[in-house]
Amino acid sequence: MVFYRFCVSLVHEDFTTVTSGMPPFFPTTVKLIYNNLMAHASGSLIELRLTSSGLAGRIECPANLHPAPGQYLLASSPDPTETLPVPLFPAGLPEGPEVPIAPPLPSHWTAGGPLQLRGPLGRGFSPPSTTRRFALAALQAPADVLFPLCEQAMRQNASVALYTASPPSDLPAEVEISPLDLLPEALAWADYLAAVFPRESLANFRRLAGLGLFDRFAIPAQALLLGPMPCGGIAECGVCAVRTTRGWQHACSDGPVFDLNNLEFE
Ligand code: FES
Repeated sequence: MVFYRFCVSLVHEDFTTVTSGMPPFFPTTVKLIYNNLMAHASGSLIELRLTSSGLAGRIECPANLHPAPGQYLLASSPDPTETLPVPLFPAGLPEGPEVPIAPPLPSHWTAGGPLQLRGPLGRGFSPPSTTRRFALAALQAPADVLFPLCEQAMRQNASVALYTASPPSDLPAEVEISPLDLLPEALAWADYLAAVFPRESLANFRRLAGLGLFDRFAIPAQALLLGPMPCGGIAECGVCAVRTTRGWQHACSDGPVFDLNNLEFE
């Protein structure tokens, strides 16, 4: 079922305020969260495999749910003990109706099981179209969520270097793999940086990149921030709040990919 998400809730200073034309029982000020095309659909987990970062898999779902690099789906299995939906990040570009999914998946999921899916959600990576040298970096996170971007870059015949402490085994030979402490060299070589790390690791990532307190990334640089996103923006729970130069934003809908120069850190 495809529908337009159009949510109204109590006012928030960062959002558009609408006060006219509402019936008298409405709050006098309301907020438009956003109006976005997304879909709900049934899908299935068609493959599971164990990786060094936990269970990875492959799902089958309709093409209108396929997430772009850095976007995600929220998935629920029929397991009654599963109280919150699970964010699924693609670990590769779709192949027909199938999408490779990055670890870690819940350990109680089984191959062949049905999933209820919602998405695609959030904002993904947006490298400049002229990018020729991609630096990818994974800190305390599986590098798999960067693989769709890696595939996209290689289709454009761009060069790709991956900086990580745990090199995955199944990367194409053309991708150069380096340890994270060489990240400052990446910033001199690349013309775009895409990173993934937990929300609380921003200061650590900046330090690894060789940046001082007030330094900015000199090339276009984006990061996918990992962390809980239980409602995917629909209930506006605020669990995913991220401090940015534009104020507090929601990783689930304003991200999870952010411009690294717009993120505030402690
Ligand atoms: S996950 Fe609830 S607002 Fe982001």
